[in-house]
Amino acid sequence: MQELYAYIKDCDNVLIASPIYFSELTGKLLDLGSRLQTYFCAKYFRKEEPIIKSKKGAVILVGGGDGNINNPYDTARILLRHMNCHNIHEAVFSHNTNISPAI
Ligand SMILES: Cc1cc2nc3c(=O)[nH]c(=O)nc-3n(C[C@H](O)[C@H](O)[C@H](O)COP(=O)(O)O)c2cc1C
Repeated sequence: MQELYAYIKDCDNVLIASPIYFSELTGKLLDLGSRLQTYFCAKYFRKEEPIIKSKKGAVILVGGGDGNINNPYDTARILLRHMNCHNIHEAVFSHNTNISPAI
């Protein structure tokens, strides 16, 4: 994570891309996302500003079924805000990859 923290601090924008698992981002992505809680702690408890640079954010989702993207998109936006992304693009997504290719 130390390498990722340094990268997140410096990068211009953040794009989160994930398949939808159980109406959520994948568990692996949430594992990584949970380590971003350090930014929340820095702000909320220590009153620090861990990431100075403001970034834009975007989210790409694919799902096998025809459900909706609200849950994973909401979660992705929480993660993006943890990384100081404020200008977050509307979700780009593809449903029904069980029967048609995501492309
Ligand atoms: C554990 C698991 C849970 C899934 N849950 C959903 C779901 O809730 N909604 C949906 O539309 N697709 C669901 N899918 C289908 C995947 O979103 C879809 O097949 C995706 O293309 C899988 O990408 P991957 O091959 O990179 O894992 C699920 C797939 C897996 C393996």
